[in-house]
Amino acid sequence: MKDILLEDFQAVADSGIPFEELKGSSFLITGATGLIGSLLVKNLLYCSSALGLELKICALVRSVEKARGIFGADAPVDYVTADLSKPDFAFEGECDYIIHAASVTASKQMVEDPVGTIATAVEGTKRLLALAVEKRAKSFVYISSMEVYGQPDSGKKTAESDLGYVDIGSVRSCYPEGKRMCECLCTAYAAQYGLNVKSARLAQTFGAGILPTESRVFAQFARSALRGENIVLHTAGESEGNYVYTSDAVRAILLLLVRGESGQAYNIANEESHVTIRQMAELVVEHFGEGRTKVVIDIPEDSERLGYAPPVKMWLDASKMRALGWTPAYGLVDSYRRMMQYMTTTG
Ligand SMILES: NC(=O)c1ccc[n+]([C@@H]2O[C@H](COP(=O)([O-])OP(=O)(O)OC[C@H]3O[C@@H](n4cnc5c(N)ncnc54)[C@H](O)[C@@H]3O)[C@@H](O)[C@H]2O)c1
Repeated sequence: MKDILLEDFQAVADSGIPFEELKGSSFLITGATGLIGSLLVKNLLYCSSALGLELKICALVRSVEKARGIFGADAPVDYVTADLSKPDFAFEGECDYIIHAASVTASKQMVEDPVGTIATAVEGTKRLLALAVEKRAKSFVYISSMEVYGQPDSGKKTAESDLGYVDIGSVRSCYPEGKRMCECLCTAYAAQYGLNVKSARLAQTFGAGILPTESRVFAQFARSALRGENIVLHTAGESEGNYVYTSDAVRAILLLLVRGESGQAYNIANEESHVTIRQMAELVVEHFGEGRTKVVIDIPEDSERLGYAPPVKMWLDASKMRALGWTPAYGLVDSYRRMMQYMTTTG
């Protein structure tokens, strides 16, 4: 465990989230071998030990071997294996709290297996919501995405009620439209079964704690800068992205779990971390390139096959999340600094 990550875990433990309410509780975390899920498990393990919370943590994964590689063979985590695109998994244990972070997230997989992408989202989320009702879970957070907004009205900041246009004739819309349906299921379970469930609409999240296998654009930019190689953009980089640092996102998700209003959705974004992809590449070159790297644009002829999201102009409004008492700690440059420091110390 590296210092920078420990510092992040301690910041979550010290953040004023009412952890005492969670004492002795059981958690089910899905997507636990992914970026967000793994950090949630690690943070809960840390807080449990540091604050004496005696949490019982169960991770829903497809590969226990992979999970043990991430958390360590002796980590006090129980595992349940399930492929959420097949909704009939069994779960015998208890769960007071569920955080559902499993999803297809790679654009290439979305366009190659759109049916599986929708099934994982809709079938999996419906099964987990039904499980929460069956287990009388106290709270459920569904990890959604800013992509639910599609192409919003770009004249102002995008708040939770500003749903934009999603082209359902585009194959890649399986992801945002799947997220929309999952949020709709959350609303339905809150209304029909009284389930305490909220949706966390995450901006692009990166920082310390990314996994060695991470291949999204933020990791590619950081690796290029660390190796002194050019940052190659495969689009014109005109999409305006919204970002949030990993432990800021973890703090927001845990706060939502205990303080979010049922049936509601919340944007999780650092409003200041808002740039086009191209500007972000240039920021990495400027701050971390050490004069050895530059931005190069190389758009492949078959770029549609790679399933890039359509360019959007979106600036997320995070005031609803801030009203719960959340403030992000790290902007873009610090997010990169911390992530790259973590990458160099973890290899
Ligand atoms: N990281 C981001 O920048 C970001 C931004 C917006 C939204 N999100 C959302 O946050 C959640 C977590 O994303 P992440 O960044 O950790 O992604 P990730 O790709 O790192 O992890 C996704 C996890 O889901 C699991 N999964 C995928 N298909 C599954 C299936 N059929 N059955 C069981 N498990 C399955 C994977 O094994 C993995 O553990 C996702 O819902 C994603 O859409 C992430």
